[in-house]
Amino acid sequence: MLVVDTGLAEKHVLITGASGGIGLETALMFLSEGAKVTGTYNRSAEPLEKIKSGWSDSLAITKVDQSSEDEVRILFEKANQTFGRVDILVANAGIGSYAGKSIQEMTLHQWENTLTVNLTGSFLCAKYFFANLEKFSGESASLILVGSTSGLFGAPWYVDYSASKAAMHGMMMSLKNEIVHVAPKGRVNLVNPGWTMTRMTEEALTDRDMVKRILQTIPMRKTAVPEDIAGAILYLASDKLAGHVSGQTITVAGGMEGRVLFTQGEVDLPND
Ligand SMILES: NC(=O)c1ccc[n+]([C@@H]2O[C@H](COP(=O)([O-])OP(=O)(O)OC[C@H]3O[C@@H](n4cnc5c(N)ncnc54)[C@H](OP(=O)(O)O)[C@@H]3O)[C@@H](O)[C@H]2O)c1
Repeated sequence: MLVVDTGLAEKHVLITGASGGIGLETALMFLSEGAKVTGTYNRSAEPLEKIKSGWSDSLAITKVDQSSEDEVRILFEKANQTFGRVDILVANAGIGSYAGKSIQEMTLHQWENTLTVNLTGSFLCAKYFFANLEKFSGESASLILVGSTSGLFGAPWYVDYSASKAAMHGMMMSLKNEIVHVAPKGRVNLVNPGWTMTRMTEEALTDRDMVKRILQTIPMRKTAVPEDIAGAILYLASDKLAGHVSGQTITVAGGMEGRVLFTQGEVDLPND
């Protein structure tokens, strides 16, 4: 059997939102490759505690609210104390809810909260990751940002979420040119998941009418499972597999084309 060497053994990977659906699967994939993982949670460590016994020497669990600069700074200090230089950051944590709102109804508080957690939180994690790279010597480094197909196609009733995710592209394109100043072979890439069954989307993806609308936009006529997204993240993180790939976006969405905006009954032709 051909075994692919990802070169990830002993690398230190910090994964934010590792207590969530995509983050937990990503953590498990890196652990299986022999990596050291610092996995973060915000409200509940339970999903990570459940897997801890199998990976007691290679998994560290840390609480962080990534909207707090102090907490993010301390997160990296703790990560250094446990496993040394952070070689790879998977900036995965984020929020989004199924309760959509028109822009007229959306409060400034909701807009600011989504932007603060998703965008400012990713900025803070990237900032302390780069500061960390500056502190330690090392050639390679990899930052993987997690966006969304909402950032590509937009998402009516979720302008806060889609704006926060579209911004990941600009962050990636800027930081790919900055990272080489703190790690000469450093790389920055973006993974855009499409509809993936996790706690964030459980309500939408158990609504049959909603799923029918969604599947009309996806040639593969299926939604993703967290492993699908984790695989793309792992590939981008690996210097062996993706060592010359930087500034790229992988959209993991089964070929998704966009959105069904209206049902047939909602569209009138002139002679109807
Ligand atoms: N599922 C999808 O269909 C989909 C599609 C496109 C993009 N995405 C993106 O993929 C990423 C992972 O989402 P998921 O589907 O795995 O959702 P999830 O299961 O709800 O996980 C979200 C993770 O983010 C953490 N988090 C939330 N607020 C935080 C904060 N203020 N500070 C630090 N961590 C915080 C959560 O921690 P606690 O649970 O401990 O609070 C959890 O670990 C998100 O960025 C999401 O926007 C998901």
